[in-house]
Amino acid sequence: MVFRFLLTFTVLALPSVWSVVNAMGDPSRGEAQAMVCAACHGQDGASGIAPNYPNLAGQNEKYLFNQLKMIASGERVLVEMTGQLIGKSEQDLWDLSAYYANLPSKAGASAGNDEELEKAASIYRGGIARKGVAACTACHSPSGKGNSQAGYPSLAGQPVDYTIAQLTKYRESVRKTDESFGGMMRGVAETLTDTEIAILADYIRGLH
Ligand code: HEC
Ligand code: HEC
Repeated sequence: MVFRFLLTFTVLALPSVWSVVNAMGDPSRGEAQAMVCAACHGQDGASGIAPNYPNLAGQNEKYLFNQLKMIASGERVLVEMTGQLIGKSEQDLWDLSAYYANLPSKAGASAGNDEELEKAASIYRGGIARKGVAACTACHSPSGKGNSQAGYPSLAGQPVDYTIAQLTKYRESVRKTDESFGGMMRGVAETLTDTEIAILADYIRGLH
């Protein structure tokens, strides 16, 4: 596992194809295209109409662009978004990404009891050594803001059901969008139990 992460970090040290293209979206052109998105993701990009719909506001541009590309190509299968990205150019996807990245993120609150939150915090900050689960904080930062340069997503404030669904999809290898990162999220989620996923998702909701 340690070796696997060393490998992952070595791979990440190489410039990615996307960082060469570089984040150059135009938020105002993105706004003009975002009306259809607001129907599901909210006018403010952070009031999705269902508990499993992600916040987009304040998410980093590079991560958003990568996901939009993979949703458009079908690499990330999202039934709900079928047809939404048809005919969009790569520039359109950058513009949408820039628009949402520039909107203010919205804070959430955790609902768990002290024991659950303490356990979740210890996994988030220190991982689970005996199972080889890496500390989330290393890539997603202590405040859950992620790493915009590397394109690691912000997690803070995401709806609990959305985060549970993603961690479960990585664990079951249903979501494989981490391929260009050496499968690191599937590696992280591989041995997480349902309970660990649930308390982590609740803890992440309250991060800010
Ligand atoms: C009919 C509802 C619907 C519409 C319209 C819609 N989305 Fe989504 N979107 C979803 C759902 C549901 C998910 C997440 C589902 C899952 O992974 O469980 C999602 C996920 C995403 C994600 C991934 C977020 C992440 O954190 O990984 C991005 C980016 C996104 N949508 C952008 C857009 C944009 C841009 C538009 C408009 C062009 C749009 N969506 C329109 C329902 C919608
Ligand atoms: C080595 C770096 C690294 C570590 C450690 C890591 N992550 Fe991630 N995480 C990523 C990357 C990169 C992605 C985006 C991958 C992709 O494109 O699907 C991601 C994606 C996610 C997502 C999906 C976000 C979204 O908006 O859909 C969640 C949830 C998540 N991580 C939670 C965690 C949790 C919880 C931990 C700790 C148990 C953790 N991560 C540890 C790098 C990491």
